[in-house]
Amino acid sequence: MLLEIKNLTKVYKVKAGFFRKKNFYALKDLFLNIYKGEILAIVGESGSGKSTLGKIILRLEKPTEGKVLFRGKDIFTMGKEYTRKVSVVFQDPRTSLNPRMKVGEIVEEPLIVHGEKNRKEKVKEAIAKVNLPFEILERKPLQLSGGQAQRVAIARAIVLNPELIIADEPTASLDVSIQEEILKLFKELNQKGIAFIFITHDIRVVEKIAHRVAVIYSGILMELGKKSEVLKNPLHPYTKFLLNNLPVKHPRERKPVDTLEEEYEIPEKGCPFYPRCPESFEECKKTLRRVEINGRTVACNLY
Ligand SMILES: Nc1ncnc2c1ncn2[C@@H]1O[C@H](COP(=O)(O)OP(=O)(O)O)[C@@H](O)[C@H]1O
Ligand code: SF4
Ligand SMILES: [Mg+2]
Repeated sequence: MLLEIKNLTKVYKVKAGFFRKKNFYALKDLFLNIYKGEILAIVGESGSGKSTLGKIILRLEKPTEGKVLFRGKDIFTMGKEYTRKVSVVFQDPRTSLNPRMKVGEIVEEPLIVHGEKNRKEKVKEAIAKVNLPFEILERKPLQLSGGQAQRVAIARAIVLNPELIIADEPTASLDVSIQEEILKLFKELNQKGIAFIFITHDIRVVEKIAHRVAVIYSGILMELGKKSEVLKNPLHPYTKFLLNNLPVKHPRERKPVDTLEEEYEIPEKGCPFYPRCPESFEECKKTLRRVEINGRTVACNLY
């Protein structure tokens, strides 16, 4: 096992009137394991807590409760050896790459931070692995296409030979044809042994890339299992909802504001999905049961 996430909870204090603040649960009591060499997709609508989970795994946020263990060690007690083993690819390379640096410098940076030798060679290896030509090393991010820029971000993420990459919506800002190429690249890298946590709001992408899928809603893990089983035979009403309501294909067609709490009142008790659930019943307002069914985890009172 690579990463163990144990009863992870993240609470933000948010405004609830002029002076009052209330607790907002971005993640609630989340348990999740990531195995060596797998691709685990995290899927859910905007606002469901996916990036918060990614940020905690990357140590960019601290959990309110719970732990993340990497090969059995608490990641918050680890030093730089953790950033060598776990890296990240963000959604938009235009904001994640420094526009003033050349591609060669961008990819070299993690090597400098970790005091690596033979840096030029290692940069070239990484550039070759993401199928870019070496001429690109002299260019700056603004001289690249969106797809090329994302490949550069991926080269930077793999240059230290990590065991795990957190990819947060890495294809969401790209055109559909480029998306396919980048997904293919992730698969190639996975075949070389890198595990991925692949975060996406689009369940179609899960079909193409994942081995397992974790569906989250309002910070709660609703369903977890093998991709083939979860997508062919979804048990959770929210997974069924996602499969029946696919997001629009192009970012331009997306609504500017579409986070969960702005559109729906999320109840504090019981199942957060009950105001939208076609199968809800009285008990759902009070409690939410989590069960294991044939190796699948489902948080739903129907089971
Ligand atoms: N720093 C913060 N302060 C208050 N609320 C936050 C903060 N960061 C995220 N949130 C809230 O937590 C929820 C989950 O956000 P996020 O993890 O970014 O979701 P996703 O990536 O699934 O869209 C959202 O409702 C968001 O508004
Ligand atoms: S617990 Fe109830 S409201 Fe929640 S998904 Fe299951 S049936 Fe629907
Ligand atoms: Mg996000």
